[in-house]
Amino acid sequence: MKIVLATTNKGKLREFNEMCKDEVIPFRDILGDLEIIENGKSFQENALIKAKTIFDKLGGDDEYIVISDDSGISVPLLGGEPDIYSARYAGVNATDKDNLFKLVDNIKAKGVDRTLAYYTASIAIVSKYGEYSVHGWMYGDVITTPRGDNGFGYDPIFIPQGYNKTLGELENSIKKSISHRSKALKLAKPIIKLLNRNIF
Ligand code: IMP
Repeated sequence: MKIVLATTNKGKLREFNEMCKDEVIPFRDILGDLEIIENGKSFQENALIKAKTIFDKLGGDDEYIVISDDSGISVPLLGGEPDIYSARYAGVNATDKDNLFKLVDNIKAKGVDRTLAYYTASIAIVSKYGEYSVHGWMYGDVITTPRGDNGFGYDPIFIPQGYNKTLGELENSIKKSISHRSKALKLAKPIIKLLNRNIF
């Protein structure tokens, strides 16, 4: 069986490849460019939309297990924003930097320079045996002065609980051990393993 990852996000691809022993193939390598309309109302719905779309495009083939990740950051002070809109917070064609600075501006507008935040990752697994989804979270604070270049997205302003450095400053190996994505993947792995052995 081939495990196909339904994402084009380079940061996510790198993290998945680092966390998986089996090789994960980005869908673009098989299907080329493809626009997926993420119109779900939750991380879970969007993750399932992505994985199902790719699985269908692959012809619903026995050979494939498709996994996807829909993720983002939520800031309770801002009513939970940007949440499922994390990738397009500053507009549909916004870069990671545009989104980060919009979040910084909105936090500053509340008169603070540090506030609680958390990342969510929903991983969907779709194969001919059905659909599964799992979640992982990472709690911490966001600050209004970006620090460090590691990770991607909002990592330069996110300080995980128990640390005093941002994910931009911390080693990738530390992020790998505590991240929302690695927690979700830990739950996804036994499901993928069983599907891979055709046990269902
Ligand atoms: P998605 O590709 O539609 O799931 O959007 C995910 C967006 O959430 C990314 O573009 C990032 O802005 C943000 N995000 C998700 N996970 C992380 C992470 O681990 N670090 C930093 N930003 C993240």
